[in-house]
Amino acid sequence: MSNFLSLHEITKEYPQGETPLRVLKGVTLEVAKGEYLTIVGASGAGKSTLLHIMGLLDQPTSGELLFEGRDLGKISGLEQAQLRNHLFGFVFQFFHLLPDFNAVENVMMPGLVGQGLWGWTLTRRQVRRSAEELLARVGLKERLKHRPSQLSGGERQRVALCRALINQPRVLLLDEPTGNLDSHTGEEIHELVRTLNREQGQTIVMVTHNEAAARRAGRVIRMLDGEIVSC
Ligand SMILES: Nc1ncnc2c1ncn2[C@@H]1O[C@H](COP(=O)(O)OP(=O)(O)O)[C@@H](O)[C@H]1O
Ligand SMILES: [Mg+2]
Repeated sequence: MSNFLSLHEITKEYPQGETPLRVLKGVTLEVAKGEYLTIVGASGAGKSTLLHIMGLLDQPTSGELLFEGRDLGKISGLEQAQLRNHLFGFVFQFFHLLPDFNAVENVMMPGLVGQGLWGWTLTRRQVRRSAEELLARVGLKERLKHRPSQLSGGERQRVALCRALINQPRVLLLDEPTGNLDSHTGEEIHELVRTLNREQGQTIVMVTHNEAAARRAGRVIRMLDGEIVSC
């Protein structure tokens, strides 16, 4: 097993009448540090479920999830929540930005979670600076004070990308980040993600419907009915 992120025989079942619904049927997968991995497969194959388990947003029914040799299934819920905020950054299809906050504030949010009152004041200034730098890097320097409703789909997703990066996550997880965007805008997002991987060595796991984008990543795995069918 590699010493970065490993999943071993992960299963996920949902109760359903007499026989449970088996959504993941024993997935074993290694993600190497600095890798850009994409997951493709038809709707309902279990891609989101796998990504959520990988990022501690959901619990497997059985199997092991290890990060740098540590079994993340064996630690307390509180520790999992703290680790999640620092190990993983998430980008979802529908952005999930807070509508009453502007772009900078949305990006800052995960950077302020868990800070005490004293830490808050000190950290706030640093987090704001980092948020502004990230937004400038994705071309949103002139949109810092815009609210989500005042931004285009592509701009919202760039804000969501910055929010996912504010805590310098060890792994960036993206679930169909361009599924809600036109193809040109989607391509811009994919290009940003590729650049993050290439220039900063960001480890990335992305679920995508866009096979062309997947082919440009380092490695593609295909899921079918809860299993990995090709690597
Ligand atoms: N909370 C849930 N309860 C019951 N079934 C679920 C739940 N979440 C997902 N599923 C089922 O698990 C399967 C895989 O879902 P998902 O991981 O979202 O697939 P994908 O992302 O590949 O489209 C689907 O059949 C879906 O209906
Ligand atoms: Mg999905």
